[in-house]
Amino acid sequence: MAGSSNGYSSIPSVEEKESIEVDPEDDANGWDWTRLVQLVVSLIALIAICVAVGMFIYISAVDNPVMVPVDVPADDQLPLPAGINLASWLSLEDYFFVGDDGAVEVATFEGSTVAKCLPPLHVGPSTGPMWNTETDLFANLMEETGSVAKTIQIFHAFRESYIDFDVELKQIADLGIQHVRVPMSWCLTEFDPSNDDILKDEATRNNATQSSILLERYACKDPFFEKHHGETLYWPAVPKPLVLDFLRACARYGIKATLDVHTLPGGTSLGTFNGIFPKSPLFWLYDNPEDPENDVGRTVFRDLLSWIESLIDSDNEAFQGIGAITPMNEPAHLAGLFGPGAAIPDKSSFLPPLPKDVAEAYLTKLNQDVDESHAFKTVPDGNHLRSLLWQDQAVAAFRESKLPDHGIDIFVNVHESILVPPLVPNDNYDFGGRHPEGTAIFLSWWRGVTTAEERANWAVLDMHHYHAWDNQCQGAVNGSPSGSYTCGDLNAMNAVLDQCTTWATMYRDIADSQLGKSGARLVSGEFSASTHHSVRHSCLDVTTLHASYTQQVEKAQAAGVELYWWGWKMPYGGTFRRAWSFKHFLYLMGANGFTKPDETDIPCGV
Ligand SMILES: *[C@@H]1O[C@H](CO)[C@@H](O)[C@H](O)[C@H]1NC(C)=O
Repeated sequence: MAGSSNGYSSIPSVEEKESIEVDPEDDANGWDWTRLVQLVVSLIALIAICVAVGMFIYISAVDNPVMVPVDVPADDQLPLPAGINLASWLSLEDYFFVGDDGAVEVATFEGSTVAKCLPPLHVGPSTGPMWNTETDLFANLMEETGSVAKTIQIFHAFRESYIDFDVELKQIADLGIQHVRVPMSWCLTEFDPSNDDILKDEATRNNATQSSILLERYACKDPFFEKHHGETLYWPAVPKPLVLDFLRACARYGIKATLDVHTLPGGTSLGTFNGIFPKSPLFWLYDNPEDPENDVGRTVFRDLLSWIESLIDSDNEAFQGIGAITPMNEPAHLAGLFGPGAAIPDKSSFLPPLPKDVAEAYLTKLNQDVDESHAFKTVPDGNHLRSLLWQDQAVAAFRESKLPDHGIDIFVNVHESILVPPLVPNDNYDFGGRHPEGTAIFLSWWRGVTTAEERANWAVLDMHHYHAWDNQCQGAVNGSPSGSYTCGDLNAMNAVLDQCTTWATMYRDIADSQLGKSGARLVSGEFSASTHHSVRHSCLDVTTLHASYTQQVEKAQAAGVELYWWGWKMPYGGTFRRAWSFKHFLYLMGANGFTKPDETDIPCGV
């Protein structure tokens, strides 16, 4: 992040001045000590000036890296997304907790551990371990603190204090944003740590009996790791009473929440968001579509549906805060890396194929109206069918519940990264990194899963689109090959954004061609202003962030695609905040009411 590599400092020319040559005439017959001393003194002075200038440039680049003067529009001129993700609250991601100086890579590489804290009770190495995901944090906190009770309190203190419902939901509502997406764990508990006799009794809460009761109340043993790996892996349970409090607050401010099941037991995807990173995902290896009644994943989703249905009568105030449910976030993300023709051809995939007869029957159902005369895309055979069938059955379970009749939607999230490259040979060369072939496959599948009436009402397709991970859309401080444009090269940036933001138009056009122009509802439940997943490359200047954001939002609005920014806040996210924290971004844009950076007084990393 130093100024020297980012193209908007003059450090290289300053460095040239440091290598001053001594004039040969000064040294005709031996050393002229006076001149030498003067030279050394002036060299030291020059170096000091260079350092000062360098620091000034560095500091100004960090504080205010606008490269060309722009008038940043006031907030009433900023287009707004349909929704905001309350990310890394009820399902933790490491990069939100890197502290002031730990930001590097949004998708942490295997082998590094970057999260340092879980405030307010765990503020750094002095209070607990560094961590990858909430499961290793939970296990290591129990070990380091020697206390199940303390571990539960650390998680609960964070979850209770991270978002101030009455301040922040109001802020969101005042912006005119009526939707929040809430990534959450699959593991829920009826119990309330704020009101638990065992937890309150400091004298006895750590004894063996009480500790095991607390574990039963506030953690879920992962059934897949238990049964198939002989390994006890605990997930820290999200208290339903906390979720209900939150939903009632949403209702008070006219906000509808999308409850997004972001993790499932065993782990469903490759990535730090899967809850088990860096372990390999097990969910699909033991997925059982032929015995849905006893299948673990399907049971988790049915239980969630039943709980939400029960709220219609038991807590209608909270029920009014729910807008939608997402059964699984980015299902089997990156499964397309495995298998013949893929990047890792020899390793067996964490997403195995369906049994042959099940796959054939499913393809027959999906492709029944595909023929030569139609523009309908054939859904191809492949391992991806396992995850698509799971989602199909989730839609079926939702359809049979009371929820569609009570105004609740289902947001079904699919990701093109589950498709092996031979199925989408041209997507790699698309000028805007938009994955048109993969998108057509998913839209064609969606036609086989839902009716036109459902798609216009409660069945919503959700495809995430990030410029930060698409080679063709990335902007980088060091230009090519890290990015398609160099931060600050506004012509190049606009050319790239023009192409890449047609993604939303393409999504809508393909929906029209695969589904008919029947007003299918389309969402992109995640996007950000970031131009690169690595902050070492990402453009952090206000001009680029502003352009990246507004052009994505405007194009999506025009195409009728609802965008949800990822995520609302990340006060412990250091440099990530500029492109990923909506609160911080609005502050950078000078939006009304956002006069302070997204930060807190609570440290992370001490
Ligand atoms: C732990 O504390 C509880 C509550 O005071 C008590 O009933 C129980 O016998 C204790 N168990 C052990 C193993 O000390």
